[in-house]
Amino acid sequence: MIPTLEWTQNGVRFLDQTRLPLEETYVLATSDQDVANIITTMVVRGAPAIGVSAAMGLALAAKSSTAPTAAEFAVAFSASCNLLAGTRPTAVNLFWAIDRMKRVFAQLQEQNASMAAVRARLESEARAMYDEDIAACRAMGAFGADLMPEQGTVLTHCNAGALATCGYGTALGVIRAAVERGKRIHVFADETRPFLQGARLTAWELMADGIPTTVLCDNMAASLMRQGKIHAVVVGADRIAANGDVANKIGTYGVAVLAREHGIPFYVAAPWSTIDPATATGDAIPIEERPAVEVTHHGGRQLTPHGVGIRNPAFDVTPARYVTGIITERGVLHAPYGESIAAGATQ
Ligand code: MRU
Repeated sequence: MIPTLEWTQNGVRFLDQTRLPLEETYVLATSDQDVANIITTMVVRGAPAIGVSAAMGLALAAKSSTAPTAAEFAVAFSASCNLLAGTRPTAVNLFWAIDRMKRVFAQLQEQNASMAAVRARLESEARAMYDEDIAACRAMGAFGADLMPEQGTVLTHCNAGALATCGYGTALGVIRAAVERGKRIHVFADETRPFLQGARLTAWELMADGIPTTVLCDNMAASLMRQGKIHAVVVGADRIAANGDVANKIGTYGVAVLAREHGIPFYVAAPWSTIDPATATGDAIPIEERPAVEVTHHGGRQLTPHGVGIRNPAFDVTPARYVTGIITERGVLHAPYGESIAAGATQ
């Protein structure tokens, strides 16, 4: 299992994803501020991993606090929640995880708990989220494997793998489960400009598992689809609105439109914590704009002329009508998504 992040006695240990695939190095976070920096700088990324990291950041805040009781820790806890909530705006798992930790803390406050109890309880909640995330990925894999071809090629965009979760992955979990069942799948991994999550991370983790993988530049999928060389698409999500619109890595929308044009199924794999019933449609999903330097430079080398205008939205929204199915740990949702999401929410 790829150790994306891990709670240890000394702090939270993160595999530094900015250095993959050439260097496998780790960063230790001992405070909420460390975790916030690690999320902002993409040492850890991917919606489910960001959520669990934030929860662990809150557990670290409790660990290092000198407050004697929950009541005296409350102001600092609230500041930590705000700090971590300010790291990345699109992945709703971040806010879902912080809200879950807030509910646990509210109970501790009501009980007038000691800080020893606060520390133990926040740590156990964060670690439970970690375990639940892996279990959800495994369940998505079991449901999604049925939808993958017995033999063929599957395109994915960005990295929705073990590295984007606490292990196994969402979209890549579906592929892993299909391969474990004996399906013969060759993965096409979009390189995913500008941060290259596909070229660096998806390729790295699939190769580690011995799953045949070919990296494509983002502009190649259309031509391969026209030639009949891609049989299915499976991607992850950062936030799914109540109507089934999907925010995911920039470029996903283009892939979905191409898949529709070529009659190729387009699946989204995401845990229930990625579904945001409070956001009615994709138009209301906040899209993170990342620093221009990610586009202007590569490996420290400048690619664009000084002073040229740059856009760097990290995500786009795929309207629900392009989505063949949403693979969750509770089963596969189909259109109309407003209804299937509402029904699944009560499970
Ligand atoms: O900017 P990133 O690397 O955090 O974006 C990640 C994605 O877009 C993933 O597809 C998404 O978070 C799902 S991860 C299981």
